[in-house]
Amino acid sequence: MTSSRVPHLTAKLQGFGTTIFAEMSALATATDSVNLGQGFPDTDGPREVLDAAIGAINGGLNQYPPGLGLPVLRQAIVAHQQRFYGLSYDVDTEVLVTAGATEALAGALLGLLDTGDEVVLFEPMYDSYQACIALAGAVAKPVTLRPPAYGFDVDELRAAITPKTKLLLINTPHNPTGKVLDRAELQVIADLAIEHDLIVLTDEVYEHLVFDGTVHVPLATLPGMRDRVLSISSGGKTFNTTGWKIGWLCGPPELITAAKTAKQFLTYVNGGPFQVGIAAGLAMDQSFFQGVAANLQARRDQLMPGLEAAGFEVYPTHGTYFVTVDIRPVRADGDGMAFCRDLPHRCGVVAIPNEVFYMNRHEGRHLVRFAFCKRPEVIDQAVERLQRLAD
Ligand SMILES: Cc1ncc(COP(=O)(O)O)c(C=O)c1O
Repeated sequence: MTSSRVPHLTAKLQGFGTTIFAEMSALATATDSVNLGQGFPDTDGPREVLDAAIGAINGGLNQYPPGLGLPVLRQAIVAHQQRFYGLSYDVDTEVLVTAGATEALAGALLGLLDTGDEVVLFEPMYDSYQACIALAGAVAKPVTLRPPAYGFDVDELRAAITPKTKLLLINTPHNPTGKVLDRAELQVIADLAIEHDLIVLTDEVYEHLVFDGTVHVPLATLPGMRDRVLSISSGGKTFNTTGWKIGWLCGPPELITAAKTAKQFLTYVNGGPFQVGIAAGLAMDQSFFQGVAANLQARRDQLMPGLEAAGFEVYPTHGTYFVTVDIRPVRADGDGMAFCRDLPHRCGVVAIPNEVFYMNRHEGRHLVRFAFCKRPEVIDQAVERLQRLAD
């Protein structure tokens, strides 16, 4: 959030400014830096997925898909939820295809929240949460996750829930920290949701990107939770197709209907041929999903020692594309924003200051996020350049 007032812009969005990702990616181009800022892979996804989309385009599937999404994709989502998590959903009433997880979030938040409703969520957080909650006229109530483990304080979470709380918004595996909530932590959240009769929106876009044998547990699998959880995912991260923007929601019919009512006035529908591609991806063998995670884990293990050698304090990450470091050993004033603006000029590497993921910005001031979803030679180059900080 920035402080200068933007003329004409609705009061709800004052302070949101331009995202840091645009600024940092422009800086990467201008300085010819290695871009470990924005989280997008630099290789294509599986051939089968690309070919399925190309086949759909050549096969004439180029008009509006149905409002709920193409049946082939909805069936693939239902089969995926059953295969990986033992969750059953009805293909016609409990699944909604969206323009990425971003629109799934927007549709759900705009469809479920009234003015003054409160949403309890963890910070740091993905930047669209706060903006969509603001657009809905609702109020975000953050509970801070702190390094190195990025666990939450149960009393803080309990205290954040008030009679105005309508829903909890949970992201696991978590951007930017790489935290993966374990079953015990999820049980605490489930107990509170049941006690206070809350809806829970779960952002699970990194569901397949977990490392070291960590298991992603969807909150909907916990007893009593299936019918109060709207779970969100998307194909972008798993299939290296972030530009396709194919996402989805699964949940009980009344929550899907609420989200769909808002979603139909956002994009209505999107990406028909890409929906066919993602359907092919979701049906791939177990070995594909294991391979994606193993490959990213190897990239993480390549970057982390380089960050340590550069002098940072590096925090563990168990999933996603990202690792967070404390910059204070290399920059005593701990100003992550200034550090990230300077780093491309100093070393030719771009990273993201974590303070943009916090409402209480001071909590993340000294933290910086690096993305490792890049080719090995790109990570090598970044590591070599970052070594200048230590030299
Ligand atoms: C936590 C989280 N949620 C949602 C999204 C958006 O996903 P999509 O590209 O499918 O809209 C991202 C993308 O970076 C993310 O990190």
